[in-house]
Amino acid sequence: MITTNLVCNCTMKPSPKILIGYKNSWFARCHHTLTMSMSNKSTTCGHNLHLITMQCPFHAREFGRIMHGSQQVFGLPSSSFGQSSSIGLSTTGTTKRGVSSIAGINLRFKSRDFSNSVETHENGNGKMVYLKGGMNVKPIVVERVENDEDSVGGKEVSGLEVGEKNEKSENVEEGEKVEEEETEVEKEAWQLLHEALVTYCDTPVGTVAANDSDDHQPLNYDQVFIRDFIPSALAFLLKGEKEIVKNFLLNTLQLQSWEKTVDCYSPGQGLMPASFKVKTTKLDEGKTEEVLDPDFGESAIGRVAPVDSGLWWIILLRAYGKITGEYGLQERLDVQTGLRMILHLCLSDGFDMFPSLLVTDGSCMIDRRMGIHGHPLEIQALFYSALRSAREMLAADENSKNLIGEINNRLSALQFHIREYYWLDMQKMNEIYRYKTEEYSLDATNKFNIYPDQIPLWLIDWVPEEGGYLLGNLQPAHMDFRFFMLGNLWSIVSSLGTPKQNNAILNLIEANWGDLVGKMPLKICYPALEHHEWRIITGCDPKNTPWSYHNGGSWPTLLWQFTLACMKMNRTELAEKAVALAEKRLPRDSWPEYYDTRTARFIGKQARLYQTWTLAGFLASKMLLKNPKLASLLSWDEDFEILESCVCLLNKSGRVKCSRDAAKSQILV
Ligand code: GLC
Repeated sequence: MITTNLVCNCTMKPSPKILIGYKNSWFARCHHTLTMSMSNKSTTCGHNLHLITMQCPFHAREFGRIMHGSQQVFGLPSSSFGQSSSIGLSTTGTTKRGVSSIAGINLRFKSRDFSNSVETHENGNGKMVYLKGGMNVKPIVVERVENDEDSVGGKEVSGLEVGEKNEKSENVEEGEKVEEEETEVEKEAWQLLHEALVTYCDTPVGTVAANDSDDHQPLNYDQVFIRDFIPSALAFLLKGEKEIVKNFLLNTLQLQSWEKTVDCYSPGQGLMPASFKVKTTKLDEGKTEEVLDPDFGESAIGRVAPVDSGLWWIILLRAYGKITGEYGLQERLDVQTGLRMILHLCLSDGFDMFPSLLVTDGSCMIDRRMGIHGHPLEIQALFYSALRSAREMLAADENSKNLIGEINNRLSALQFHIREYYWLDMQKMNEIYRYKTEEYSLDATNKFNIYPDQIPLWLIDWVPEEGGYLLGNLQPAHMDFRFFMLGNLWSIVSSLGTPKQNNAILNLIEANWGDLVGKMPLKICYPALEHHEWRIITGCDPKNTPWSYHNGGSWPTLLWQFTLACMKMNRTELAEKAVALAEKRLPRDSWPEYYDTRTARFIGKQARLYQTWTLAGFLASKMLLKNPKLASLLSWDEDFEILESCVCLLNKSGRVKCSRDAAKSQILV
């Protein structure tokens, strides 16, 4: 039975621009006539085509063209697809790969036959670019059903299962429960996590940021944040509840990019929203309609751009495949297109000289002014992980060749840049202490012209002999010496750091346990900005006072990233110690968003209670500890290809000496 979700009256919130566009387009007509109603519900929602009377004269020919990604379809007015409510929600029952089916019409295409004309074209420099003019080119989403040579028994299977049918798969099957006993605290957390589910057209699509019924001013904490959902997604995946994660990935994909504007300026194509909300609007005759309303930062406090959202989306997409063994999701036409769009946005040229991503303040988990603009470590680590994920998932066709080449170059350059220039240990600190300044030459030792007086006093005794960490940020004449937890942990997980550096980071955390874990794991950054630094850098932010919130507060959600990093480096006992601390205190304190004070003694001044990523982070940690094999699928080992390839074209042309030739840090490996 075909249960493909095609078009429903659950819509993405359109901009006026798009509504005007609809009026004259083919899709506009079909959009309205394809609207489906569930007869027994007042909310207009349609999921299963076999249940619904199609009111639209449906032309298979049109869809056939879309499926094959022909140019013709995308010659439609640019708004034709932008606000389509065609959402590929999950199919029920078994699906097979290779054939797409829409309303009983089977459209054959090879599962690897990704569109090569959807929105890319060669720009003359060998780079694939997206056409801005014809930009609203979201492909119609279809589920593929029936017949596929690679499928076994009607189920999508992992390469592992196909290749080694006799061996037990490491992937979690739907409904397969992890046998281990759950503690009472875990049971409570699972219940709260299920209560935090957000449904869209009766289908769970995410979890709210916080679910405290006593909070009368939830601001945007009643929304589904992309970054906040990641630990929920992992907990669900590790528990075998994969549908919600798939729904989340597909729905956020539909929200991607371009509609919202800040004072008439549109965000870059491919941008993923920071969060979204399901809104119910009233229609005629007492009916209602559900609308997915994304926030790209245009409503957010401080109008911050969510650079990390797309990176998290890519990382989660990989995790979904790794844990479920269902790689079909990654191979879908629409998913491949979304993936490429994020990559193009991140890889596009700018004025910047560095391989790291240049971003504004507040573009990640720290989503308000905290002096992290420039090249913050957190974004670099996520960028690196997303590029490594994308490289594994991009369809190997003609179209991807250049993109994969670009990714490889960037990975190599970024890895070198971070390992060499962001690393700080006693030896490096001593080098900085003795730096000469104002060096004008290609061979300069002090490349970024760092003045030694920048070394803060607290740092001198803080770094243990066997420890070290990656700096928070690096700019001309500026090193941010603060220790940022997420960036450092994610550098371990993704092998952005060398194995030796990764171990040294954990040594440093262990040696400074009182400062970085204290009474609740884990400090978001250390130390806090105080006095005039707080005034100038945070802009006198009353939420980010010293040792509170982003400014040296402690965030239990970071527990899952810490657990993953410790497990990867065979230091599981550290993670267990931290999880035990959290397990004792979190339920007693009603699962707060963050803790305050130097050692995390107090519940955060303005912390929300029943914060979803707090409890999800705890659950994900527990699940990871119970499933070391699955946990290992979520991290990356050292990649020797990235390490070896020097992409310095200037060097090849013989014009200048490649600074990597003189690199010292590679010997750290
Ligand atoms: C705060 C956090 C941000 C999080 C959001 C929702 O703004 O800084 O990282 O995504 O709350 O929980």
